[in-house]
Amino acid sequence: MVDSIPVITVDGPGGVGKGTVSRIVAARLGWHLLDSGALYRLVGLSALKRGVALDDEPEVAALATHLDAQFTGNSGDNTVITLDNVDVSDEIRTESVGSAASRVAALPAVRQALLERQRRFCRPPGLVADGRDMGTVVFPDAQLKVFLQASREERASRRYKQLKDKGISVSLDALLREIEERDARDSNRQVAPMRPAEGAVIIDTTHMGIADVVENILRAWNGRPD
Ligand code: C5P
Repeated sequence: MVDSIPVITVDGPGGVGKGTVSRIVAARLGWHLLDSGALYRLVGLSALKRGVALDDEPEVAALATHLDAQFTGNSGDNTVITLDNVDVSDEIRTESVGSAASRVAALPAVRQALLERQRRFCRPPGLVADGRDMGTVVFPDAQLKVFLQASREERASRRYKQLKDKGISVSLDALLREIEERDARDSNRQVAPMRPAEGAVIIDTTHMGIADVVENILRAWNGRPD
């Protein structure tokens, strides 16, 4: 019974800290983790690798349906993500793949193709689901919905540090522009636009550390009404 499995959804724009926060919350609760952005990134990467145009809806949806992807070491720090048996854990984090992801994510048939796959991550003892539409579309019955936000400048600077730590060099200005474009595309698309779900707990993380955000979410989970 999927309904009886507890779910916490964590939605919000890129660079807001969703990934790290969700990973820690999942580990603290001993639950599974769904990094839904990684699925869109895999579809984007798959299209780029195969030379499929990012706006060719039927072709990209077919790639999404048959996506041969594995996530191993789930809620750990070192999740290995493979596409067609090749480790693409780092490659999918680049800005070019992020941008491809947000383009394919605007196609309704692609979102539909990924819906069931995302729901299959919901297994006992519980799931923390990280994305843009986890609380609004994929898990509308989640017991706790969280929406994280932060200023664009802060998000760009976090992404910059993250990429730099991985040895990927980009300019801060270029990142800020990418974030603005991606926000606009994610918020204005026709299907599943990014917005807080009804009843979501909204947390502005601009001036908050990861640990504080995690504690806020765990407090909201422990103190939720029955
Ligand atoms: O969260 P992340 O930056 O990895 O997501 C990459 C892109 O995938 C986002 O910009 C967004 O367009 C898309 N996405 C989405 N719905 C989700 C998760 C990600 O549309 N649930």
